Amino acid sequence: MEALLSLDIHCHLLPGVDDGAKDFEETCAVARALLDYGITHVACTPHIQSDLYPNTRETLLKLVAETQARLTAEGIGLTLLAGAEVRLDPDSCTPETWVTIGDLGTHVLVELAPGFPLVEQMEHQLFAMQAAGITPIIAHPERQALFIKDPEILVRWVEQKGFLCQGTLCSLAGAAGERSVNTLDTFLRRGLIHFMGTDSHHLDRRMRDLDQAVARLDAIVGPENAQLIRHGNPRALLAGQPIRRPTPVAQPAPQPGLVKRLLASLRLA
Ligand SMILES: [Fe+2]
Repeated sequence: MEALLSLDIHCHLLPGVDDGAKDFEETCAVARALLDYGITHVACTPHIQSDLYPNTRETLLKLVAETQARLTAEGIGLTLLAGAEVRLDPDSCTPETWVTIGDLGTHVLVELAPGFPLVEQMEHQLFAMQAAGITPIIAHPERQALFIKDPEILVRWVEQKGFLCQGTLCSLAGAAGERSVNTLDTFLRRGLIHFMGTDSHHLDRRMRDLDQAVARLDAIVGPENAQLIRHGNPRALLAGQPIRRPTPVAQPAPQPGLVKRLLASLRLA
């Protein structure tokens, strides 16, 4: 199968460190499922959240190396890279928790606290990261209440602040509900999504129909943008090259309401 993504930058594959794979058996199951989708390279991004998942760079790098060795011993040909999904709150997001993708020192995946966190406080943390030469990647903005309510915050973050965004394949497959499909569709059309990831935790709804999700992605943004999001940008990240913003595409024309359509059909009859 053609690889859905050159690199999955969001995955909870490491055993026993967050709400992802609970043990190595489950790690193997998720790894095999990713390989079935042609995904051969994965950044392991467990949550870092001071109250629930106090993971550290040292423990995660060690666990990535151990898990890689065990997968290889099982004959599972998935390549693991380091990473984390760092909660954007002052206790969780500190220089010690900035576990960069591939330990390359360039990009950190961050997630917003639920609800409506303070924008200025988050920007303060994100600017500190940038000042250290690290570019933040916002995880699944389509699931954040803040951006659903006020998408212009995300537009400003991408266009003026230089933050990057990762959408989730399962959101396009409908696993997170129709609102996430529509929100992600809009963000994609506005050129706000630089990467897609699986955010896989278990063999559940998040891993279903990902090939259909990619077909939908291609249809929404067009083949050139889709190629950039699926392959060009992940490869650029690994090669230390600039990440490019996809070209915005037109929003679909609004569908006439039911009443209008009924009236139109009556007139035609
Ligand atoms: Fe996640």
